[in-house]
Amino acid sequence: MVEIARERPEDVPHIDALIDVCFGPGRFAKTAYRLREGVNPVPELSYVAYEDKDLRGSLRFWPVMIGPMKALLLGPVVVQHDQRGRGIGIMLMEKAIAEAKAMGHRLIVLVGDEPYYAKVGFKPVPKGQMTMPGPVNLARLLYLELVEGALAEAKGVISRPVPDIKVAASSAPVVVA
Ligand SMILES: CC(C)(COP(=O)(O)OP(=O)(O)OC[C@H]1O[C@@H](n2cnc3c(N)ncnc32)[C@H](O)[C@@H]1OP(=O)(O)O)[C@@H](O)C(=O)NCCC(=O)NCCS
Repeated sequence: MVEIARERPEDVPHIDALIDVCFGPGRFAKTAYRLREGVNPVPELSYVAYEDKDLRGSLRFWPVMIGPMKALLLGPVVVQHDQRGRGIGIMLMEKAIAEAKAMGHRLIVLVGDEPYYAKVGFKPVPKGQMTMPGPVNLARLLYLELVEGALAEAKGVISRPVPDIKVAASSAPVVVA
């Protein structure tokens, strides 16, 4: 039986190998990868599909900004070649999307095949509303609202998240005599 679980550190080499086989080195040239460079996937939304001890699939999400709005970038979702068509990709997405919603995320975007992602509710981003920081077929840019109305807030360039700036609290008040 296929089980969906949170990704653990020991899954990473198996996931990397699966991604490598499925996408090859060409993936690094893709604009979606630019958005992931130097950024960690959201750990609570990184899921794996296992059957017995065999990794069947993986799904990750990345934090992005769309203009000033925080959102999630879905991908890659990947399923072992000889295990496709068993519903594993959909199971991974349904689990992670439900978790993203429970965590309070508002909007997910991705670049992919609309007929596939429509199965879990994705729709094409209206023309002209968002762009990517590099070449991409914008007709393949899809969105899923986790909160009704969130799409209207997401306008502009999809970019890497701005790191939180930690302001050190001063240890003692400054007293001016
Ligand atoms: C895309 C992928 C993750 C789907 O995983 P999967 O476990 O086989 O998918 P599921 O079994 O959950 O869903 C199968 C259904 O989706 C359809 N489907 C799968 N890929 C599709 C695509 N690219 N476009 C349209 N429909 C697709 C199947 O025809 C099937 O439809 P049906 O249920 O009506 O018969 C898998 O094919 C894969 O790993 N591909 C290589 C990596 C990739 O391209 N990932 C997506 C880009 S990030």
